[in-house]
Amino acid sequence: MKVAIGTDHGGFALKETVISQVLADGHEVIDLGTNSAEAVDYPDFAKKVGECVVSGQAERGILLCGSGIGVNIAANKIRGIYASVCHDSYMAHQGVEHDNMNVLCLGSRVIGPEPAREIVSSFLRARFVGNDAGQERHFKRVSKVREIEKNSLEKE
Ligand code: RB5
Repeated sequence: MKVAIGTDHGGFALKETVISQVLADGHEVIDLGTNSAEAVDYPDFAKKVGECVVSGQAERGILLCGSGIGVNIAANKIRGIYASVCHDSYMAHQGVEHDNMNVLCLGSRVIGPEPAREIVSSFLRARFVGNDAGQERHFKRVSKVREIEKNSLEKE
């Protein structure tokens, strides 16, 4: 699959590790920057990655910042993006399987490269189970999340 990757300066140290893992797992990378440790603003990169995913250019996104939190909050402001910080591999696959998470957020100042590699692989291997027989409850719950999103935007 195509995976959009974006980071601010706080996540930049982890970017090459993440890219190399995505490639090692047989996926394509769309690199949306940043490309140095010079200070930038994380919402700009969350927007680029989020829009790349909702437009269908990429199937999933991975965002990095210092904590993972700034990009997580910003990405979730985009309709159709379901992003979360996951700092263990259980969260990374369960978030996709049950919650249809499409953007993984990592904090470069919180986790090291080897846990990050495992988390990225776990995220990319996982798929949403809500359309599978016997798993309809997850589809129903994700639909409720979408209803919240829709109604919230309508009131703006
Ligand atoms: C940058 O210093 C830092 O605030 C940013 O990378 C991120 O951690 C915000 O959530």
